[in-house]
Amino acid sequence: MREYENLSTLHTNREPARTHYIPYDSFEKAVAGNPADSAYYQLLNGVWDFAYYARDIDENESAPFTESIPVPSCWQCYGYEDPNYTNVNYPYPVDPPFVPDDNPMGVYHRNITISESWAQRRTYIVFEGVSSHLSVFVNGTKVGTSMGSHLPAEFELTPYLHQGENDLTVKVRKWCLGSYLEDQDFFRFNGIFRDVYLLSRDQDRLWDIEINADDKNIVYTGEGTCTILNQNGTEDDLSSPILWNAEKPYLYTAIIHHGSEFIAQKIGLRKISVSPLGELLINGVAVKLKGVNHHDTHPEHGYYETNDELLQELKLMKSLNMNCIRTSHYPPTPYFLEMCDQLGFYVVDETDIETHGFCTRFPGYVGYDTENMDWICRRPEWQNAYVERAVRMVERDKNHPCVIFWSLGNESGYGENFAAMSQWIHNRDNSRLVHYESANTVGNPDTVDVVSYMYPDLSRTDGFAQSDDMRPVFLCEYSHAMGNGPGDLMDYWRLIYSRPKLIGGCIWEWADHTVLRNGVGLYGGDFNEMTHDGNFCCDGLVFHDRSFKAGTLEAKHAYQPMWSKMENGQLKIQNCYDFTNLNEFTLFWEIETDGKITDSGSLIVDIPPHTAKTVALDYQLPEQCALGCFLNLRLVKGETEFASDQHDLEIRRVSSPLCDSSNTLTLTQEAEYILIHGNGFTHKFNTHYGLLEDVNGLTCGMTQLSVWRAPTDNDRRIKSQWGYLNNDNQSGENFNRLFNKVYDCKLEGNSITVTGSLAGVSRLPFFRYTCVYRFFDDGSIDVNLSGTVRENCIWLPRLGFEFKLPKSAQHFSYFGMGPGETYCDMHHYANTGMYQSSAEVEYVPYIVPQEHGNHYDTRLLKMDNGLTFASDTPFEINVSEYTSEMLTEAMHTNELVKADYITVRIDYKVSGIGSASCGPELIETYRFSEKEIQYGFRISID
Ligand code: GAL
Ligand code: MG
Repeated sequence: MREYENLSTLHTNREPARTHYIPYDSFEKAVAGNPADSAYYQLLNGVWDFAYYARDIDENESAPFTESIPVPSCWQCYGYEDPNYTNVNYPYPVDPPFVPDDNPMGVYHRNITISESWAQRRTYIVFEGVSSHLSVFVNGTKVGTSMGSHLPAEFELTPYLHQGENDLTVKVRKWCLGSYLEDQDFFRFNGIFRDVYLLSRDQDRLWDIEINADDKNIVYTGEGTCTILNQNGTEDDLSSPILWNAEKPYLYTAIIHHGSEFIAQKIGLRKISVSPLGELLINGVAVKLKGVNHHDTHPEHGYYETNDELLQELKLMKSLNMNCIRTSHYPPTPYFLEMCDQLGFYVVDETDIETHGFCTRFPGYVGYDTENMDWICRRPEWQNAYVERAVRMVERDKNHPCVIFWSLGNESGYGENFAAMSQWIHNRDNSRLVHYESANTVGNPDTVDVVSYMYPDLSRTDGFAQSDDMRPVFLCEYSHAMGNGPGDLMDYWRLIYSRPKLIGGCIWEWADHTVLRNGVGLYGGDFNEMTHDGNFCCDGLVFHDRSFKAGTLEAKHAYQPMWSKMENGQLKIQNCYDFTNLNEFTLFWEIETDGKITDSGSLIVDIPPHTAKTVALDYQLPEQCALGCFLNLRLVKGETEFASDQHDLEIRRVSSPLCDSSNTLTLTQEAEYILIHGNGFTHKFNTHYGLLEDVNGLTCGMTQLSVWRAPTDNDRRIKSQWGYLNNDNQSGENFNRLFNKVYDCKLEGNSITVTGSLAGVSRLPFFRYTCVYRFFDDGSIDVNLSGTVRENCIWLPRLGFEFKLPKSAQHFSYFGMGPGETYCDMHHYANTGMYQSSAEVEYVPYIVPQEHGNHYDTRLLKMDNGLTFASDTPFEINVSEYTSEMLTEAMHTNELVKADYITVRIDYKVSGIGSASCGPELIETYRFSEKEIQYGFRISID
């Protein structure tokens, strides 16, 4: 049997797991905490010799190295093998513990130098992450082996080394039995992808360092001396300790001195408990977890992110009001947790286990049929492989205040091996809670301290909140952020705030996973894989470069610390922080009337955490307005805005009087056209199609009445009920193969009345309508559409007119919700106001092109070429260089070619966005399911 397929050789000679630390040679260096300054630390990152073998058995040990690769890295990012993205399916047969006979291998080589002083001491090598199986050789002798890609592997090298130059070779195999435990939904990359370093240790060095802290004390019972420093660097007696929480992450530094070594650990005093109501308490205070799932992913470097990149991500999360991270689905780098301690996050530390592919070991998706002993979580011979992954995580991370839950893994069913992991953890560390979502597949046994679910809809979530089980309810994944979206965050948070037992959740997921080539994001299926899951990996709340999209800002809003409302003309502000008074911020307010600031001010509001207050603002309001009058609020600290809100003050709107419609117009019928001549303008109406064909030369082609939108990722299930997409008779209403039938088109005075219907190919009409066009002396046109949607028709993607404008008519201003894209369920982050934009600016580069760029609650759209659309009843607009058809067809951004014209959509309504790419169906209120439609707007010309 091969070693890497043998369950009794999970490792050879690997050192026992221990707390992560770097030994220093002085107290001061330990306090400063820069590993590079330690005389006992040698980072081995850099360029190594490299050889890749498609079959490990082809390795030629005597061949000189001719190639090189950076460490850390993933070899697929350097041209050795193509990337492979697969979600549930294993990329090889399900035959544990056996993996394919053709097992690719990367051989890494470099020299290491052992100085005279190091030669007197003991030397260890630490690998922080290697996928998936490594064997270490020094000067030709095998030192040891390990697996567990996202867990550390440490070996003592002392007996194999001598002073001076030594030869270090590391053989990394692509597959091993551990790969069965690493079936996470991601690209399957390989290599030495995290830091590698040497440590020089005393002969009688300490090994593990365990420091226990609660909300009263810090306790170290190991050998050596322990000095506790506060943030001023003095010694602290801890008689009135400052506690740690994610909002105020106060850290002490413990320095352990033993022999010649100084070891620093950052310590936070905090206590985790659960209230009788099932609330999660941090230091006795009920907190809500405003979280996100974080994978290590980089568009060019795969699993490898630098410390600086990780830090930037954490800072972005902080700026988005997030206070919780689930490290899906494996332990992060030790540095990541250090930063979480320091910046303040509650971390769900998840160990490196996912065996989702057992759900697809038979044809179809059988799910978690764990009564069947095929499941390795039930097989005794696999128990060590499971338990050791819990041990290695807990031992490495146990001193971190940020870690509040230990998670046993993800989507791996439930069985005796999970019970054994939980038991081991509870015995080892009872200061934190144990989490494992798949425990809900067997009714949440008491091996888990939190009950956890992914993607329940609001009513199921509320059901959990109201059950008799008094454990906290956590949504470890919710609001699937794929593509344009998510659109349901505010709805979840209204519910979460209303139920004590709902402790919050983590949005799926932080960033898009993609492989970037020539600026184009690639995904599953782009690399000739045997099995893949398309673009399901492109599901981030931020783009791969960590830039924001509308959904990002919507998340920031849902998580914001201030929720406000107008009650009987008075502003009421709720402080949603758990530990912070809002008096640490400045509240800026302004009155915005028709897009202009007509009054403003700022104040400090003293509102303790978890409380609400009515706040009097001394503002002057206009008596009337044309477009709208709003109160805008911004909560700011330093340069950063943490919260914003807008309230419509419902000031009477007075629209400009209608112009006369009788005197100067002549309407003449010629062939299929009616020409509308007025003082200095001509419009052209097509009676055959019942549509405006030209508005005084400002448009460039026939208007369309349409309902299609390019499906978003979140429309991926509903789209087949909407459109004709796969060439088969499973299609839906075929909205994208549309016929507009005109039964009658009548000219009466200055009005044209069209009766008609819309139908998809091969289907009954779904919309029967009457549309009246009234023409006015000043060139304006009132359009009024009324109609009925067929009773059994699916809810519509949208409904409205599409105007074609010349390419030169790029630029526009609008009074509506912006400046980012907004939809009826994804607009809380935005304000209604006057904005300027262009068709080009409206484009949003989703990895798979899709519907984008809508503006909800629009009252006016003014194209710079002189065409204006307005209505007293808010409508929705979209201005694009692409048509919905183009966006539907394109699968990558580089396949998009701009149309010869600009498309301007003037929509009655557009359905919401939701998060149904993985989450529940779109919430009913956001579906455009009205049956009786009445809608009108005015077109005017300059
Ligand atoms: C969950 C899973 C995640 C990811 C997500 C879909 O079921 O835990 O890893 O696959 O769905 O994007
Ligand atoms: Mg999965």
